[in-house]
Amino acid sequence: MSTRPFWLAGAAMTGDSEIQVTNPYTGESAGSVAVPSPEQIEEAVAAADAVAASFAALPAYVRAEALAHVARRITERTEEFAQLITAESGKPITLARGEAGRAASVFRLASEEARRDSGELQRLDTDPGGTGRIAMVRRVPKGPVLGISPFNFPLNLVAHKIAPALAVGAPIILKPAPGTPMTALLLGEILAETDLPRGAFSVLPMPNERASSLITDERLPVISFTGGQFGWELQRLAPHKHVTLELGGNAAAVVLADADLSWAAKRIALFGNNQAGQVCIGVQRVLVDAEVYDAFLPELVREVEALGTGDPTDPATHVGPMIDEAAAERVAGWIDEAVQAGAKALTGGGRDGVTVAPTVLAEVPADTKVVCEEVFGPVLTVQRVDGADEAFAEVNAGDYGLQAGVFTSDLQTAFRAHRELEVGGVVIGDVPTFRADQMPYGGVKKSGVGKEGVRAAMDDLTYERVLVLTGVQL
Ligand code: SIN
Repeated sequence: MSTRPFWLAGAAMTGDSEIQVTNPYTGESAGSVAVPSPEQIEEAVAAADAVAASFAALPAYVRAEALAHVARRITERTEEFAQLITAESGKPITLARGEAGRAASVFRLASEEARRDSGELQRLDTDPGGTGRIAMVRRVPKGPVLGISPFNFPLNLVAHKIAPALAVGAPIILKPAPGTPMTALLLGEILAETDLPRGAFSVLPMPNERASSLITDERLPVISFTGGQFGWELQRLAPHKHVTLELGGNAAAVVLADADLSWAAKRIALFGNNQAGQVCIGVQRVLVDAEVYDAFLPELVREVEALGTGDPTDPATHVGPMIDEAAAERVAGWIDEAVQAGAKALTGGGRDGVTVAPTVLAEVPADTKVVCEEVFGPVLTVQRVDGADEAFAEVNAGDYGLQAGVFTSDLQTAFRAHRELEVGGVVIGDVPTFRADQMPYGGVKKSGVGKEGVRAAMDDLTYERVLVLTGVQL
């Protein structure tokens, strides 16, 4: 296996060292990638800075066609992407194929938005002082972007950084997660087939320690980060930058008395555990109305025990390994801590190397980590609540607020949930683990600031600039 080059200002390069990538499930090498030297990192930043003005001024169709090309090529190479995602992240292959499909959609949506992005006219003659004046309001890039993406969606969360930036004409330097850089580099190969100008994109894998100059470099005024609570450190290190943080959470699924319990049990079991729970909006806290708690619990446990676990290359597997042994150890430690504190493990609880058994915990003390922190593992905590009042209060009592799911068939309760829950998104009749890539996506409280979702991200990466025309007769 040859070392994959990185992409510096659109060109393939080798650097001063390599990252060895390990297949989490087999423990064998999944490949290696080249790492840029500090001088090459500087070159990428200088190229992004140099191209920023002309890239922003490029006709929309040039950007739109490049993005559409990427969407088409991801579709053509779906299987290659999926195999690579599974090899480097341990994501079950069925989910990896789904991820490739979503990434193609992200680029297609960005291509469409790039063509639609026209700004608006605003009449100013609403008061005497504005007579004969009109404003044109257009969004312009805040500047070159540093995108930092996590390991759990090595393609689609990279797509969510790169596609909106290119759509608005902002150069981007993408630093993929050091554990899963190969998929991002394959995407770089496709980006390099386009007519995007030199400097419009760089994909630079590197150990986190090497990224500090990028974080503080004033020529990259925007940082878009998806990952863990470290994200807040970026705000501290770069207080003058525009920082967007998508930091996950401990998402709740509320099961009310009028819910379809079988459907709720199936969905919660699957989306609390698939890809070993390593999803920011994976279900973690299950809040069940006391009226249906005793009927629901055995169904949930049955569904969890029926999940396909093991080899991620097997299409029947939904759970798979965690990203590495340290992550599995941490999750198993949190489960043990909860059990020591009095929680009952209704199923699971064990760890075999990098694999944690899908686990359901009941009667879990509220101050344990499996309840109040982001587990990012295949663990569900189940809590009995007294109707929507207590359920919604519990959702809001947490430190995080990314998404919540409410299983109810009552329309008024649905609107109440939307009104009252302090989260970035409420899903009615399903788990919180639902994301359509055009939806605004991002949380409140410790879940982060700013929004992703193609259009929302384009707004986030730009600011409104007003042009006032005088002496205009309307
Ligand atoms: C995430 O885990 O941050 C993203 C979830 C998704 O895109 O489905």
